[in-house]
Amino acid sequence: MAKLRTTFVCSNCGYSSPKWSGQCPGCREWNTMNEEVEEKTKVSAVSSVKSKTVFSSVSSVTEISTGDELRYNTGIGELDRVLGGGLVKGSVVLLSGDPGIGKSTLLMQACGTFSRDKTVLYVSGEESAKQLKLRAERLNVNSDKLFVMTETDVESICEYIKVNKPEVVMIDSIQTMNNAEIQSSPGSVTQVRECTNLLLRTGKSLDIPVIIVGHVNKDGAIAGPKVMEHIVDAVLYFEGERNYAYRILRAVKNRYGSTNEIGVFEMGDGGLSEVENPSQALLSERNVNVSGNCISCVMEGSRPILAEVQSLVCTSGYGNSRRMSTGFDFNRLSLILAVLEKRFGYRFSGMDTYLNIVGGLKLDEPAADLPVALALVSGFTDKPVPDDVVAIGEIGLSGEVRSVSRISARISEAARLGFTKCIVPRSCLKQIKTKADIEVIGVRNLHETIANVF
Ligand SMILES: Nc1ncnc2c1ncn2[C@@H]1O[C@H](COP(=O)(O)OP(=O)(O)OP(=O)(O)O)[C@@H](O)[C@H]1O
Ligand SMILES: [Mg+2]
Ligand SMILES: [Zn+2]
Repeated sequence: MAKLRTTFVCSNCGYSSPKWSGQCPGCREWNTMNEEVEEKTKVSAVSSVKSKTVFSSVSSVTEISTGDELRYNTGIGELDRVLGGGLVKGSVVLLSGDPGIGKSTLLMQACGTFSRDKTVLYVSGEESAKQLKLRAERLNVNSDKLFVMTETDVESICEYIKVNKPEVVMIDSIQTMNNAEIQSSPGSVTQVRECTNLLLRTGKSLDIPVIIVGHVNKDGAIAGPKVMEHIVDAVLYFEGERNYAYRILRAVKNRYGSTNEIGVFEMGDGGLSEVENPSQALLSERNVNVSGNCISCVMEGSRPILAEVQSLVCTSGYGNSRRMSTGFDFNRLSLILAVLEKRFGYRFSGMDTYLNIVGGLKLDEPAADLPVALALVSGFTDKPVPDDVVAIGEIGLSGEVRSVSRISARISEAARLGFTKCIVPRSCLKQIKTKADIEVIGVRNLHETIANVF
């Protein structure tokens, strides 16, 4: 008889311990340790399969044929871009994101384009067939090659896949999947891991790509996507502020492509539409001639994107001044404020400082330092940065402006959107190859920048 043992597993990072604790020792999250029952004598499904196939799986790399069509086009350009040029056959992709951000919508739209010439199986453990049909109708998806299955038992799903061999499989939410052989409840770390493993083996053995939805959940009772990140081939995060229409799809892991490509979508009544010109979309509601704003140009993968940095600086009402940053690293903001205060005498310490990147975008590139500094100085002095200026550059601790990568692409994008002045690090000037119609000003430090702009 199987011997039962209780362990406590962190739903955020998968750390397991024989003892319960309020804070996970692995990732320092609170209230994420959940009781799970482990069957000691049961050989894990993974290892039993491995031992059977271990010899047949050895072959010389020169003998392995890749087949003709390695990737399936999803028919959604932005999704293809993030996947590295299409969905690789036999790969397992985790699509993750906050509740209600549009994961099911994106999958259903991909089903729509896939099912034009491929059989697609969409498994939902969350919605009834009727609800799925309603969504499909709203998104204009209608094909006799698209099969929906409302099932949560992962073994019967895999059985169905083996028998019917659909060409693409979508699993709507791994947290609802259940393997009857495992005692813990659906959504627990063990269940999520084992179900992912089973789907992965089924997909790989038949060369069928599987896209799995995983919820991001702050509530500790449901295992987060972190616990399966290392199992799957690619991890895509769908993010965005829920109040904005823009959604950004980002690859945080990709065994078959670059991880710094993003896809930009806009959520509307008819579902998600691709935003081919993100810069223009992000700048569309721009307020001109207002102090505290500056336009930045950051690279998102191979694409330059212009985004507006906004700051608000006002006298602090309390002893402690407040600092808030949305879309920009808080520590980086503190550093830039410290440089501005120490080297240039802007007394931010008595001020409340708020920084925001418009459109829900996150700027996590050094090139965003200079526009942030300019927005802050502009907010402090109440003098607007001229509307036709784009600033690019990293700031060092002594106030020097350091070079950044891909300067030509950034300048071209700024010129394309009608900006006439571009402030760049002086050391980048010789790398500029673009002949775009824009005045490029090279600066060595913040002093020169401020003198040039205001
Ligand atoms: N009838 C509708 N008209 C317009 N937009 C809609 C409609 N129904 C849903 N939406 C949009 O779709 C979003 C939900 O999308 P979706 O169900 O794909 O999200 P999800 O990430 O799968 O959510 P969950 O985590 O609950 O599964 C809503 O937030 C809303 O913006
Ligand atoms: Mg959903
Ligand atoms: Zn943890």
